[in-house]
Amino acid sequence: MTIVSAVAHPNIAFIKYWGNRDDALRLPANGSISMNLAGLETRTTVEFDPQRAEDEFTLQGVLQEGAPARRVSDHLNLLRNKAGLAWKARIVSANNFPTGAGIASSASAFAALTAAAAAALGLKLSERELSILARRGSGSACRSVPDGFVEWTSANRDEESFARSFAAPDYWALADLIAILDDNPKKIGSAEGNRLARNSPLQAARVADTPRRLDLCRRAILARDFPALASIIEEDTRLMHAVMLTSSPALLYLEPDTLRLMRLIPRWRDQGLPVAYTIDAGPNVHCLCPQDSAAEVERRLRETPGVLNILHARPGAGAEVIPAQAGD
Ligand code: PMV
Repeated sequence: MTIVSAVAHPNIAFIKYWGNRDDALRLPANGSISMNLAGLETRTTVEFDPQRAEDEFTLQGVLQEGAPARRVSDHLNLLRNKAGLAWKARIVSANNFPTGAGIASSASAFAALTAAAAAALGLKLSERELSILARRGSGSACRSVPDGFVEWTSANRDEESFARSFAAPDYWALADLIAILDDNPKKIGSAEGNRLARNSPLQAARVADTPRRLDLCRRAILARDFPALASIIEEDTRLMHAVMLTSSPALLYLEPDTLRLMRLIPRWRDQGLPVAYTIDAGPNVHCLCPQDSAAEVERRLRETPGVLNILHARPGAGAEVIPAQAGD
């Protein structure tokens, strides 16, 4: 019996992944850039037992059945096949942030699951191999494997599409204040949404323009140039939501309270407060700012109608194996 725990953070994409060139392998249509979010985390313990008949997956203390349990078992099968072992496992996972509310819980979930299961099966994998396997569970999970500021390259082959770090977490003291406007699980998850992207007439143009946006974003981060970062991440968010709005069926994740912040935040910037928005597949608004502006951004968010809660994150490390969690 082997038991291993791992921790991983979700990540926020500055240049978004939306749409696959291969849905089964989760090979993305375009490259993406993200920052891991310390302060938010998934802790997962995997215990393989040769005597066990079935996998058993518990999330936030609740035994999972149906699709979520199958997705975890399917992912473990990839790792079991690599190890040449058929052992079933008990998997216990917990997030310290709301699950399924557009905060990419699947990214930290599959990064932590991959790191824990690989170690428990005795697989000695490089960061690149772990990132590739995490990608198979949930695309954006590959970006939660390396540290800090990360780029995921799009490629036609499984073994070439992975994420790597281009700046350490302490390279730039940014904060992400996540304005929670609605904490209910979203109706259409990103896996299904990703399949719809290709039927938007705007997707091809968005994908073709990605190298330009990746370049601007990478340079803005490496130069710690906040105005440049603000401009490119907001543009990229609007482009992704334009694709979502024009796929069929249309995906409308933006709520009136989301649009209010999309108007207010550039106005706050014009008034001299460095802050920028980015929004994933949900209504909540990630407000990026230098850490020394976070208190003022938070004060303004608290005064804004519709903001139910604010989560705090800063640049974080990659997925890590940790001492097995007692009592899991
Ligand atoms: O990896 P998924 O299936 O959770 O898709 C993530 C998609 C976005 O969060 C909307 C964008 C991104 O790059 O993280």
